[in-house]
Amino acid sequence: MRIDILTVLPELLDSPFNTSIIKRAQTKNAVKIVVHDIREYSQNKHKKVDDYMFGGGAGMVLQAEPIHRCIVALQAERTYDEILYMTPDGKKFTQSSANKLSLLQNIIIICGHYKGIDSRIREHIVTQEFSIGDYVITGGELAAAVVTDAIVRLIPGAMSDISSALNDSFQDNLLSPPIYTRPEVYNGWEVPKILLSGNTKAIEAWHLEQSLARTRALRPDLLDE
Ligand code: ADE
Repeated sequence: MRIDILTVLPELLDSPFNTSIIKRAQTKNAVKIVVHDIREYSQNKHKKVDDYMFGGGAGMVLQAEPIHRCIVALQAERTYDEILYMTPDGKKFTQSSANKLSLLQNIIIICGHYKGIDSRIREHIVTQEFSIGDYVITGGELAAAVVTDAIVRLIPGAMSDISSALNDSFQDNLLSPPIYTRPEVYNGWEVPKILLSGNTKAIEAWHLEQSLARTRALRPDLLDE
């Protein structure tokens, strides 16, 4: 899989993509992540990429041209399955979105900044718009990092044990059961006995029961979906 990310702040994405599972997935060639600085596609002599809003209003808008030029250059090299735009007014990004996107070959993610991007890019180029939650962050970069992380860990070869990803919270609309590791007793607090029984069937049943109880208590909305 290949993920191209368009941003005016490429340095913001250095650390999330050069650590842990995302780094390993790239080293193992399970994914290629390429970050593009939108400024490099500006034809303005000062590399300006933003301007005031038509009709007035506070805040700057990223211009259509450098974003469009970058996308045209990428599309000359390969076909893209989806062109995503990260925005607080997008569709809520969920585990199901991550599952679907992880099956694609090539995607582009556009990060907004300032007030956002010229709406003509959204109307004519973007195929899906995603929000990571009902709050506003400074730009789309951290949202793109969240989305990329959620996708990449599902790609075969990214995680050493894919069953770990498949058991995650939300994979089946259930929260994960509680987890424990050694020692069996810490500070007088004991691990549930069933987990030490070696009875895999009973443990599986306990996990499901706990998942259901936690989901009912903490996120009953997931059970309605
Ligand atoms: N850009 C700013 N806020 C955002 C959000 N909540 N989700 C996605 N992109 C954003």
